[in-house]
Amino acid sequence: MPNVFASPHPLVAHKLTRLRDVQTDPKKFRELVREIAGLLAYEATADLALEPRQVQTPLAKCAGYELKEKIGLVPILRAGLGMVEGVWGLMPSAEVWHIGLYRDERTLQPVEYYNKLPVAPTVSVCMVLDPMLATGGSAVATVDVLKRWGVNKIKFVGIIGAPEGIALMHQHHPEVPIYLAAIDERLNERGYILPGLGDAGDRQFGTA
Ligand code: PRP
Ligand code: URA
Repeated sequence: MPNVFASPHPLVAHKLTRLRDVQTDPKKFRELVREIAGLLAYEATADLALEPRQVQTPLAKCAGYELKEKIGLVPILRAGLGMVEGVWGLMPSAEVWHIGLYRDERTLQPVEYYNKLPVAPTVSVCMVLDPMLATGGSAVATVDVLKRWGVNKIKFVGIIGAPEGIALMHQHHPEVPIYLAAIDERLNERGYILPGLGDAGDRQFGTA
């Protein structure tokens, strides 16, 4: 599938298996979400632009680099929150902008309840963080918000994606690359990913 990257990394596969396990408790679940997010962010940032920066070592001057563009991390509340620390640890100067969406259980459509983005964009690259890409409604709505804000370089970093959600993203935002730990089989009749991991928000926050 174009523009969709399922991680081939053995550490991701190992951690994802523990994450899916119904026996994994919320503390371990949060730890795994954080770690997988960091590993996927490493893969998702391989094409970030650099600019030259000279540095003085204790012995000599040395040609080096620094990130050229200002990066924004955009976790979708609630479940995306757990991915922030793992990614932020790799790029501590990133800004974090929260978007609050929940999925209406009946219609499966996203409902926006929190958005404090300032009028003008303060970053030039956004990484949308949400562990689950199910119908894709939440991811599409978030990318819509970011494009209206004025940011056009956007990446989606999730953990598990369903073919249905990937197809919706491709339909609305084909240029947005999607980074995942795994692509699962399908959605069930309630819009949950199969085999998936259940409800990512409830499993992190102990609210099941
Ligand atoms: C989950 C998940 C995504 C959304 C995915 O959030 O974290 O945001 O569902 O589903 P979709 O692709 O069909 O839109 P949920 O609405 O359960 O809210 P929560 O994170 O607050 O639990
Ligand atoms: N949201 C979740 O948390 N899990 C799913 O499988 C689908 C949507």
